[in-house]
Amino acid sequence: MTRNTQARMLREARAAAKNAYAPFSKLKVGAAVLTTNGHVYSGCNVENSSYGLTVCAERVAIFKAVSAGECEIRALLVYVDTAKLTPPCGACLQVINEFSEDAEIMLSNGRRTKTYRLRQLLPRGFKLTLPKR
Ligand code: THU
Repeated sequence: MTRNTQARMLREARAAAKNAYAPFSKLKVGAAVLTTNGHVYSGCNVENSSYGLTVCAERVAIFKAVSAGECEIRALLVYVDTAKLTPPCGACLQVINEFSEDAEIMLSNGRRTKTYRLRQLLPRGFKLTLPKR
């Protein structure tokens, strides 16, 4: 990951966080996904009055990439303006796992960025192998 690409992902995640629809939690999250084609897709969290229908910023960004025909994630950055860095939730880790081998996961609050690999955060992600018949 070049410093330039990381800076671009942070910029895009931060811009997306401004559009977060988070009237309930007030936590505005932005995410940026880098695909193996070198394109960046961003997303924000979208909450709902029926709380369980909320979708995280990471999944919005990933689904934008997939719906544009890009299914291979090289890196993902999560931006939240909090003192403590926010890792993707378990559901999002599993979705990242579907579309990457061992993506670089960057957590940033704009002042500090920490980098992990998917395997560190989700050591044994599930992948479907069909049963023999
Ligand atoms: N959220 C995300 O968008 N990404 C995360 O990694 C953690 C949680 C959102 C979901 C919800 O809108 C709010 O943050 C509080 O949970």
